[in-house]
Amino acid sequence: MYFQPLLYISNWLRWLFSPVYIFIKKISHPFIKWMLRRTTGLCELQRTCYCELSGAPRILGVEDSLKKSKSAKVQTLVQFLDLAAKEKRFSTTGSAQIIRNTVETICCIKMIHLDSHQPFYKLFGECVSIIWCLKQLLHDLESIRTTGYDSSNAEHEKKLLELWNLLMPMTELESRVSNSWKDIGFQGDDPKTDFRGMGILGLENLHFFAKNYPDVALQVLSHSNHPKHGYSFAIVGINLTHLAYNLWKDGTAKSHIYNLCCHQLQVPCPTLLHFHRFYCYLFIEFDKLWITEKPLTIMEFGRIRSIFENDIRLLLSNPNCLFKLNLPVEHV
Ligand SMILES: *[C@@H]1O[C@H](CO)[C@@H](O)[C@H](O)[C@H]1NC(C)=O
Repeated sequence: MYFQPLLYISNWLRWLFSPVYIFIKKISHPFIKWMLRRTTGLCELQRTCYCELSGAPRILGVEDSLKKSKSAKVQTLVQFLDLAAKEKRFSTTGSAQIIRNTVETICCIKMIHLDSHQPFYKLFGECVSIIWCLKQLLHDLESIRTTGYDSSNAEHEKKLLELWNLLMPMTELESRVSNSWKDIGFQGDDPKTDFRGMGILGLENLHFFAKNYPDVALQVLSHSNHPKHGYSFAIVGINLTHLAYNLWKDGTAKSHIYNLCCHQLQVPCPTLLHFHRFYCYLFIEFDKLWITEKPLTIMEFGRIRSIFENDIRLLLSNPNCLFKLNLPVEHV
């Protein structure tokens, strides 16, 4: 209680001086960096690796430091890594060499003696690996997304029919083009037109959800068929692919992705599997929100989706964010 006025004043002062504060921070940043380097003998990358918590705080710090570096040599290195990700050279066999070279180049530029900084080698290498594996994965996602659904492609057709069987295990689809597709939330009698903007990525997401979490997917499907508060399962699902894709592409999901990678025991690298799981998380949470909002028509989709997106973005803005699938199994 005593602190209330103090808090108020300090918040007010902070607000008043924030432009000044940002300006001072901006001009003093190089000076502070130089001071720290002189006093601790460590460069910014080393301090980030040693002092920040593992996971997103450290990896985001390293990424930021590399991006903002004024050294032309560092920028060339970053461009080289970007190109390697684009050309998909981060593979089980190729990554190790690229990462070793990167760490050695940085040590050379920053005059870090490897003998006395072995931990840096490992920590920095892990960050580099995760940052550029993600960039490579984004290129992969982009090419899956831009692959349109093609009815003459046997694999696409197989996946689509499998989706039906997973979601409607008791009902056989009478023909490939059928009005029954509406039962799982497609718009017309041929789902191929519904994938549009998200291409085959939309189908793969739905398929993964139905295949790996069948109980939950069926439960969500049954919610979507609610007589009063229903929605189109597949159409909403494809829309959530769009959301998941945007959150990964614009970097918002990095907090979750980076924290996830460092909790893994094996090779710390984001993969397609993580994207699919992230999508399942979104679908399950969206369904929960929809149920609590009890919208009377599907016209409210835009409103609820935007509440949902804001909530998710807010959660992801915390560097400690890590989404865990809450599998809701109701016993009815
Ligand atoms: C998903 O819904 C939002 C809001 O209604 C819309 O802006 C967006 O284009 C949709 N995306 C897809 C792929 O349908």
